[in-house]
Amino acid sequence: MPAPDTAVSSAPLTGAAAGGVVHLRRGGTSVVVDLAADTPAIVHWGEDLGDAPAATLTSLAVAARLQRVSGGLDETARLGVLSTAASGWLGTPALEGHRDGQSVSARFALAGAHVTDHELQLDFTDHETELTARVELSVGAAGLVRTRVVVRNEADAPYTVQALHATLPLPWDATEIFDTTGRHLRERSGQRHALTFGTHLRESRRGRPGADGTLLLAAGTPGFGFERGRVHGIHLGWSGNQRAFAERVPTGESFLGAGELYAPGEIRLGRGEQIASPVLFGSWGEGLDDLAARFHAEWRARPQHPKRPRPITLNTWEAVYFDHSLPKLTALADAAAALGVERYVLDDGWFRARRDDTAGLGDWTVDAGVWPEGLHPIADHVVDLGMEFGLWFEPEMVNPDSDLARQHPDWLLRGRVDLPPSARQQQVLNLAHPEAYAYIAGAIGAILDEYPISYIKWDHNRDLVDAAAGPGGAALVHAHTLAVYRLIDELKATRPGLEIESCASGGARVDLGMLDRTDRIWTSDCLDPVERLENQRHTALVVPPEMMGMHLTTPHVHSTGRTVSLSMSGAVALFGHFGIEWDVTNLSEADAAAVAEWVALAGRVRPLVATGRVVNVDVADPGLDVRGIVAADAASAFFTIAQTQTLISSPTGRVRMPGLAPDRSYRVRIVTPGGIVQDPAQSPLGWAHHDTVLTGRQLAVVGVRPPVQNPQQATVVEVTAA
Ligand code: DGJ
Repeated sequence: MPAPDTAVSSAPLTGAAAGGVVHLRRGGTSVVVDLAADTPAIVHWGEDLGDAPAATLTSLAVAARLQRVSGGLDETARLGVLSTAASGWLGTPALEGHRDGQSVSARFALAGAHVTDHELQLDFTDHETELTARVELSVGAAGLVRTRVVVRNEADAPYTVQALHATLPLPWDATEIFDTTGRHLRERSGQRHALTFGTHLRESRRGRPGADGTLLLAAGTPGFGFERGRVHGIHLGWSGNQRAFAERVPTGESFLGAGELYAPGEIRLGRGEQIASPVLFGSWGEGLDDLAARFHAEWRARPQHPKRPRPITLNTWEAVYFDHSLPKLTALADAAAALGVERYVLDDGWFRARRDDTAGLGDWTVDAGVWPEGLHPIADHVVDLGMEFGLWFEPEMVNPDSDLARQHPDWLLRGRVDLPPSARQQQVLNLAHPEAYAYIAGAIGAILDEYPISYIKWDHNRDLVDAAAGPGGAALVHAHTLAVYRLIDELKATRPGLEIESCASGGARVDLGMLDRTDRIWTSDCLDPVERLENQRHTALVVPPEMMGMHLTTPHVHSTGRTVSLSMSGAVALFGHFGIEWDVTNLSEADAAAVAEWVALAGRVRPLVATGRVVNVDVADPGLDVRGIVAADAASAFFTIAQTQTLISSPTGRVRMPGLAPDRSYRVRIVTPGGIVQDPAQSPLGWAHHDTVLTGRQLAVVGVRPPVQNPQQATVVEVTAA
């Protein structure tokens, strides 16, 4: 049952509303809300409309209203901020619910509005169903919109909420959809199609967004790309079940919407209780990079955003998997420190009975067989080498083969007598169960108290299936998700400086609900840089790059069997939170020197990664990937030119490097560790051996000839103000 938070108040219209029309303007975005008509509605979201006179705003609102047409209702209903079926709205409603099958017909009247420069709060009542509601909408400093809907039960009889959505309208000419799908090892692959009449619905019933979940649901003018084309998109800040949709209705409106996906009876409000939809974020831009920049700027401005330079990380997983031994892990720490690594993360395999993935989850004490002196020898060694020590946990999961499951079978989420189908031989701990919660909080706390741990890799390796409070019990994904948030928040609050990485079989729980309380995500279990290109490009549409874990991998990639060059691996990991995941204890001297060079380059690039603007270049040949990170003051930039397959032409067309100051001059140099890619049969690449100085405009409009490369090779270019 959701806990009541602040009450929905009724209040008269206050603040900057002109003639019943509210204009919120900030960071290049305008939102215009018509309060005068029956159903308050957003009549514009997107480009800044300037300092519009009040009369024109009223006209704008009037100009958006709909005519009555044949075959329709006598008053054509439009998309409002709280449209329900009873108001005549025939699209997806904002709220659906009932009192044990009764009181199904909610219809809200505006009771009050509070407006400040950047925020609007609308209060609604429905005397017949005895519900009140609130719609909150704000525009952030970079023009990112946040909105959510809150509904509250004012009657004695419980009210079951079936669906609660926030929506944002689209321009009518936004007729092409972009969203993401995927699977384990291939999260956030893009898909595009027409926004036709009807609903394009994306749901997750996995208890997490899922590897196939859409991080961004966007719609724009046909053919929009990263650099151009008007596009609007939404993201739901929630880590549990969810739905997002793009809808086009035959009354000339299209819109984006999203909310939590509730199981039957999951949200049942007693008198005075309320439920809030997760925050729906809306961004728009000329091209997807512009849209992404609003997310990045506002996420970085949060007080809890990780601001110190992101420590170069070594994760032990692909180096040793479950094969934990002190000599091996000590040697790995030595090798890492010598390469310039700053944080060493001991992954899965350190706790009781965890010799493989069939047992141990839930028993969070150090395995005395493998670690007779506890983790002290390795943790102390890492710290003595000057690195931070991080440790892997999977707090929400339990192997049936564990003392925890044997002693407390009632602590596992299940809706029936039989356990839900297992995944990776594991089940889910019911964190909404107070004793289970206290146990896991205490177990993690004890390990953190004993060892110098400044970083947790928080994993989550299965979908929630049939997640209920016990045989015949109530659905619990909502409550479980809130409990996970609470656990993380409490750990962070009581241990200042502790950083947490959110991992879910790689990137199956990537959302701004989780990222509001953690410091980075593990972007994908697939370390293959060729595969990572698309994954990282699409993840960065919402997630600031410094929050995305990107690791240099072994040349013989484990997850795909592909062989990649170090230049490819390094270049693809460069524009994120850089790390290494590879057994670097046996490198040749030359390879160790090359890896150290990549680490040093990552150290030079990271200030830009943390503050700069991500640019993705729309390139003509699908075998070539060009992207960059441009300093906020446009004084410098780095670009990577990565080749995934042979190109149709060789040598090929010039690549542009946009985003710099048009009239400024820049020196352009290749800085790939290991030097310029050069086949003996080729003549040298002219500009790379010349003092090449170009203006920002020349770089953006014309560009330079990329080096002739083989597939799985890449080049790094540094651009500095001349
Ligand atoms: C899945 C993660 O994504 C991996 O990085 C690793 O931590 C394993 N789990 C460990 O079991």
